[in-house]
Amino acid sequence: MITVHLEHLGESIDVPFGFPLVDLDGKIRFGCRAAACGRCAIKIFDGQEHLSVENEKERRAKGILGLCGPSERLACQVTVHGNLRLGPLDKKERKQ
Ligand code: FES
Repeated sequence: MITVHLEHLGESIDVPFGFPLVDLDGKIRFGCRAAACGRCAIKIFDGQEHLSVENEKERRAKGILGLCGPSERLACQVTVHGNLRLGPLDKKERKQ
């Protein structure tokens, strides 16, 4: 099992390898689920190397939303392959 720690809730959840973060709806806020709205933007505090590689949709959306760091991801587009610690990305942290 893999442990996902949700910093903003002070809660850890065990998930299987390849777990899609979109299945944490209710613990992470989602909107479109299609890399279009940016509502699910998260910051990875530890374990960013344990997330799936950015797909083209996410890469394009991150550019539009001003999310440029590898630790900034769109939760609706990623799966988990190892332990990580994350929290929602504050709007102030976005570059635009
Ligand atoms: S839920 Fe809209 S970009 Fe992820």
